Amino acid sequence: MNDGLAHSQRVLSGMRPTGALHLGHYHGVLKNWLRLQHEYECFFFVADWHALTTEYDNKEVIARSGWEMVIDWLAVGIDPAAATLFIQSRLPEHAELHLLLSMITPLGWLERVPTYKDQQEKLREKDLGTYGFLGYPLLQSADILIYRAGLVPVGEDQVAHVELTREVARRFNHLYGREPEFVARAEAALKKIGKKDSSLYLELRRHYQEKGDREALALARALLERQQNLGLPDRERLFGYLEGEGRVILPEPQALLTQTPKMPGLDGQKMSKSYGNTIGLREDPQAVEKKLRTMPTDPARVRRSDPGDPLKCPVWEFHRIYSGEATRAWVMDGCRSAGIGCLECKQHVIDGVLAELAPIRERAEKFSSNPGEVRKIIAEGCEKARTVAGQTMQEVRQALGLVDII
Ligand code: TRP
Ligand code: SF4
Repeated sequence: MNDGLAHSQRVLSGMRPTGALHLGHYHGVLKNWLRLQHEYECFFFVADWHALTTEYDNKEVIARSGWEMVIDWLAVGIDPAAATLFIQSRLPEHAELHLLLSMITPLGWLERVPTYKDQQEKLREKDLGTYGFLGYPLLQSADILIYRAGLVPVGEDQVAHVELTREVARRFNHLYGREPEFVARAEAALKKIGKKDSSLYLELRRHYQEKGDREALALARALLERQQNLGLPDRERLFGYLEGEGRVILPEPQALLTQTPKMPGLDGQKMSKSYGNTIGLREDPQAVEKKLRTMPTDPARVRRSDPGDPLKCPVWEFHRIYSGEATRAWVMDGCRSAGIGCLECKQHVIDGVLAELAPIRERAEKFSSNPGEVRKIIAEGCEKARTVAGQTMQEVRQALGLVDII
């Protein structure tokens, strides 16, 4: 068994390129990435193959919005010196792992993923009875496992995909992590990490195996992470030896649920392109201002003299994000006593949103007018990703016997 404790401090997440990013992406996802990039080794990628599973008839949008999305990431402050940025389709290794995982993934596991039926119902106008769409979550598993990521920041709707990834990894390790002389090899590997660490490892292993002490397991894993002169196969053996009798070739990841509050849209529903209630990260300031001025308020406030209730007004949700305590108190009082007008109230939100977007727009323009730089960032990111993905694939091919043996 391999529980939820993260094997590695590596973070991986992807985003589907389906159109211009908006404030919902910024507050819901990107702010989280901004924090993570300084805390962990991060890989962020454009999930263009994933976009094709539903937008297969829309290739222009996907190609264009992939690059625009990278510009948006850079504009909000994702730093290519801190995080590795790449495009999924540039790494055919993902497809290879997806194919190999498909050999051992029961159809029922995929059919039971909740997004499968949900999305088919939601996007009724589209034929999603395709092979690629059913395999979508498994492709996501390949994305995650190929980097041996420990943590996967995702929204609630994606947790089931990470769960599937864990099951697939477990099955894979169970089937292919077995090898003759496993214990002897693990013991030989142990000799390579020095006396002090190896006796600590054995003590922690005993604590975990005899008493189920998860903290000991986490400590032992951290100890292995620190080892410099341990090759991958030996590392896998020692990870596996902590828990059982086989190598851990593909470690189980953990979902990192995004905690940031959901950014509401202009109408109070979740901000989403399909609801037409978004504010784009690069939208022109006049357009943004107009959208906010005309957004609905508490319907009880027909006239300026009618009192209202911020809790029934979508503008209030924006104040929660953009206004300080003093302004929020002013809104609460002023709205309930009809002491302030809605336009006055909205002005604070307008100022806050415009102030937030101005530097983003400026940086985006800089990158837009310098596509060579963006291309270079992605080329370097793809190279780094390829190094890691390539290593995993070598291990995987070896474990499946897909190597020259004569
Ligand atoms: N499925 C994710 C989404 O729709 C995008 C994605 C693809 C992803 N591969 C991933 C997210 C790997 C995290 C890890 O948002
Ligand atoms: Fe909404 Fe502000 Fe108008 Fe009250 S005063 S209804 S919170 S916009």
